[in-house]
Amino acid sequence: MTTTDVYCVVGHPVAHSRSPWIHTRFAQLTDQALRYERRLAPLEGFAADLQAFIRAGGRGCNITVPFKLDAAQAAHSHSPRVALAGAANTLVIAADGRIHADNTDGLGLVADITRNAGFAIAGKDVLLIGAGGAAAGVLGPMLEQQPRSITVCNRTAAKAQELVRQHAALANSQKVELQAQEQQGLNGNFDLIINATAASLQGAGIPVPASVLRPGSLAYDMMYGAAAAPFLAWAQAQGATGRDGLGMLVEQAAESFALWRGVRPPSAQVLDELRDVLAREAAA
Ligand code: ATR
Repeated sequence: MTTTDVYCVVGHPVAHSRSPWIHTRFAQLTDQALRYERRLAPLEGFAADLQAFIRAGGRGCNITVPFKLDAAQAAHSHSPRVALAGAANTLVIAADGRIHADNTDGLGLVADITRNAGFAIAGKDVLLIGAGGAAAGVLGPMLEQQPRSITVCNRTAAKAQELVRQHAALANSQKVELQAQEQQGLNGNFDLIINATAASLQGAGIPVPASVLRPGSLAYDMMYGAAAAPFLAWAQAQGATGRDGLGMLVEQAAESFALWRGVRPPSAQVLDELRDVLAREAAA
């Protein structure tokens, strides 16, 4: 008897997640027989919920807020990216139930910036705003692109310093100047500015001055839709190019799909299709 492999996205909340749509489309376009579900895990019950999913035959998960740390801890083995970020967004479940954790968020960000936006990170000056889980998940793969420098700036300065400390050895081996700067009095300007904060969600202003932008800078918000709008409007008003995180969402999904299925889906096509879906929803 052949059974269909089952995958899911686990979060709390999870109803908003576009991952089922993305992975179902990847499966159609690559002829893979799989089912992909949403799973709302109880806030205090991630590990038990994961075991129930595995007992029911689950072969892999994407992990979203607030379980990325729990996912890293629940795994039997993890990639070096998980060790560096302290968080996992992808679990690969072997036939014997063993769990391997990976983190594809940073790979997704890098793929969207370099391939979809056509912006080379190598040799550039980068500002990463934020030092929470979202920032931690992408700093390693960003360093591996060998920009000239990465400056991390965060409302709570100590968290930026800690993130820099954890990545100092990688920065050194990649020959990247990695430093933390206080948000108050931040100086310098940058080719690429990445917003990894939740400031817009809280209706707060843009946490950095407009002087961080250069003409032709790329200003990237890791969120998409309404949550990204204030940052993108701010960047565009200064003459910079703005880009939301929808491409990162699709590309991190593509990396997860490749880990599970050994097949690379046509992510650029699916990104175009998803943009159309969101535009139609917004117009309705
Ligand atoms: P995530 O996993 O999405 O990164 P998080 O770990 O709670 O979530 O981190 C949220 C990030 O947004 C942090 O960098 C946070 O700054 P603090 O470390 O000082 O809390 C940042 N952030 C949230 N609200 C903000 C605001 N109003 N202004 C500036 N930064 C803000």
